[in-house]
Amino acid sequence: MQRLALKWRRAGKRVALVPTMGYLHAGHLSLVQRARQAVGPRGLVVASIYVNPTQFGPKEDLAKYPRDLPRDRRLCRAAGVDVLFTPDDAEIYPGRGTGAYTTYVVEETLTGVMEGAARPGHFRGVTTVVAKLFNLVLPEVAVFGQKDFQQAAVLQRMTADLNFPIQLIIAPTLREADGLAMSSRNKYLTAEERAQATILFHALEASKLAIKRRPVSAARLKSDLRAFMTVAPLARLDYVEFFDPATLQPVARVKPGSHMALAVFFGKTRLIDNAAL
Ligand code: PAJ
Repeated sequence: MQRLALKWRRAGKRVALVPTMGYLHAGHLSLVQRARQAVGPRGLVVASIYVNPTQFGPKEDLAKYPRDLPRDRRLCRAAGVDVLFTPDDAEIYPGRGTGAYTTYVVEETLTGVMEGAARPGHFRGVTTVVAKLFNLVLPEVAVFGQKDFQQAAVLQRMTADLNFPIQLIIAPTLREADGLAMSSRNKYLTAEERAQATILFHALEASKLAIKRRPVSAARLKSDLRAFMTVAPLARLDYVEFFDPATLQPVARVKPGSHMALAVFFGKTRLIDNAAL
């Protein structure tokens, strides 16, 4: 991959990267389109598929994370991906078997809250693998989804701090017709859970409405949301936070422009969503 990338660079090709863990859906493919838009018809769009073990916790779904490479290949081809990079563990973590392994870590203020608090070590895995993909593919543009808002913020920080000459583009969240954010993990849901999973989207919409006229305290909004969520009895709230989108730090008073993020369990399936209020 890196040899090819160096050849492209010498030839003056523009390269965009879309990192994924596969089991692609329309949300991923919208990132591919955005990447194409960024580098133009003569540029090269690289998608990567790698289910990165280091970003999963010991009790998480690494082993059963959905995979369907033949289908992903077809989708990538149809979406106009030029190169599909599907590295294996040895390529990404050479020597890891010996414990020799370097990581990239972004400061706690960004990685110790929300997803980082709920999933210790998660962002260390994400930043490490994305930095490696940057060094292997040498793109000038990389596209990520706002669906993982905190991930995008952490990766922006890493890219700036490590001086990667790469522009990050954060693309909007694609949703199903009923509002559920598209996710590879939606496949885990039973029919009943799937019906109730719209609660994440409705919680975001309800909070937008609640603060429209005047700021509301975060504590008040959180308790209102807990009550609101009883309409979805299969849902178990992991966290909901109201924060400043620039710093990810919690705000006491929530107003338009504040950001909201939440994580909800349905059985063992954990879904996340977020929005600017
Ligand atoms: P994955 O969950 O496969 O997501 C790949 C990219 O697709 C991420 O940038 C994510 O934010 C984006 N995405 C997911 N659902 C989306 C939706 N409904 N609309 C728009 N974009 C969406 O995120 C990861 O993989 C990994 O952490 C990765 C960055 C690849 C590092 O391993």
